[in-house]
Amino acid sequence: MSYTVETAARTAPAAVIVAIDGPSGTGKSSTSKAVAAKLGLSYLDTGAQYRAITWWMLNNGIDVTDPVAIADAAGKPVIVSGTDPSAPTITVDGIDASGPIRTQEVTSKVSAVSAVPEVRTLITELQRTIAKGAALGIVVEGRDIGTTVLPDADLKIFLTASPEARAARRSGELKGADVSATREALLKRDAADSSRKTSPLAKADDAVEVDTSDLTLEQVIECVVTLVEGKRAAK
Ligand code: DC
Repeated sequence: MSYTVETAARTAPAAVIVAIDGPSGTGKSSTSKAVAAKLGLSYLDTGAQYRAITWWMLNNGIDVTDPVAIADAAGKPVIVSGTDPSAPTITVDGIDASGPIRTQEVTSKVSAVSAVPEVRTLITELQRTIAKGAALGIVVEGRDIGTTVLPDADLKIFLTASPEARAARRSGELKGADVSATREALLKRDAADSSRKTSPLAKADDAVEVDTSDLTLEQVIECVVTLVEGKRAAK
């Protein structure tokens, strides 16, 4: 009689690195978390890290209109991201920052702080270390993941949506904030994020673009899950 013993190494799915980029309001966070949870992958919200460093700077009296002051202070806060997609966390110097980083004040200042090259170098290094440590793989969402942070990602997705769809979603998340004011704020932040010199918001040449304007969240999740499974099967 003969039989085969499958080793864990042979049956475990290969680690897969997924980069999901795009402007705000395209469904990046909801999609990334759900895809990671469904496929047993880790999840990293890189926008939360830029928000966290911005929050620390505001709390510590750093002039966030001064790139030199921002650069000098960039290495001081210790930012730790928890990568469980069902309960992602972020702490700054050991303090839970998940609520405060979503305030309007942080949202309005984060583009200026994240445009400073010294900030990007430090946060990019942190992101690469986290991605490397994810044994089964990870979904990393942001603006420059496919182009700069993880250019060798197994799969790159670039989510887009019309400004109207994005503003409607964001104002819903902000519990009924005025749609046209939200639209203006989104477009202003996109313009700043897309025009900065260091690793701007951009689609990688080899990214799959998905326009989510007329898709439900479930449809977007299904589309991305199918793409990830295809990549995993081919590894
Ligand atoms: O995804 P978010 O809205 O939480 O991101 C907040 C800001 O952080 C966004 O306006 C630009 C910046 N950001 C970035 O520059 N690079 C990333 N990879 C992610 C976010």
